[in-house]
Amino acid sequence: MEILKIENLSKVYGKGETAVKALDDVSFSVDKGEFVVIIGPSGSGKSTLLHLLGGVDQPTSGKVWVDQTDMYELDESQLAIFRRRQIGLVYQFYNLIPILTVEENITLPMLLDSHKVDQKQFKEIVRILGIEDRLNYLPNQLSGGQQQRVSIGRALVSNPSIVLADEPTGNLDSKNSEEIMELLKMFNKTYNQTLLVITHDERIALQADRVISIKDGRIANDEVIRP
Ligand SMILES: Nc1ncnc2c1ncn2[C@@H]1O[C@H](COP(=O)(O)OP(=O)(O)OP(=O)(O)O)[C@@H](O)[C@H]1O
Ligand SMILES: [Mg+2]
Repeated sequence: MEILKIENLSKVYGKGETAVKALDDVSFSVDKGEFVVIIGPSGSGKSTLLHLLGGVDQPTSGKVWVDQTDMYELDESQLAIFRRRQIGLVYQFYNLIPILTVEENITLPMLLDSHKVDQKQFKEIVRILGIEDRLNYLPNQLSGGQQQRVSIGRALVSNPSIVLADEPTGNLDSKNSEEIMELLKMFNKTYNQTLLVITHDERIALQADRVISIKDGRIANDEVIRP
């Protein structure tokens, strides 16, 4: 089943002589449960692509469907709700809210939607992530690896259609990088959670089901490694 579809997606930053075409007519689709890695040189448009898939930026042209919903046909408030429910975002620098505890950071997207947090699911996620004894800590009282576990918890708690991660291990040492990738893969395989990861790390690319390489805002290669 197709969970994500991108059609003729382009993004131009700026106007006139200083305009930058960051994404140039990109189309592809992703099946539910696929683990896709996106690789490419610095400045090739990877983060731009992820921001457009995550609904955090507007495309210049083209369309994005997540779970059959044409995302950019939604109005601003519908899009905000859709994003919180259907898309889990994980960033290199965690993007946690410093004045909120671990538990509050994880449950915030649900509370913003006036959704009850499924306590059983919450407990299960924090147990798997190994942060159940840190729920009342603030982000600055955690190691980088722990902060990334919290941001993964936040991304997963609403049971989203897709998880998008932009260099999720880029700020971590090799042991923590491996553990974070194992966790993301575990949620991908065990819960059939669709996963898109941007990385510069070839070892991570080799773990994916499929690798899409981006160059100059275009798809240079799209290869299924594990059918
Ligand atoms: N907000 C912005 N305003 C103007 N130009 C931008 C903006 N964001 C990105 N760009 C430009 O778009 C192009 C693609 O940037 P993007 O961040 O998507 O690259 P990337 O592949 O993620 O690179 P990296 O591997 O270094 O993170 C670059 O040329 C960049 O300068
Ligand atoms: Mg980037």
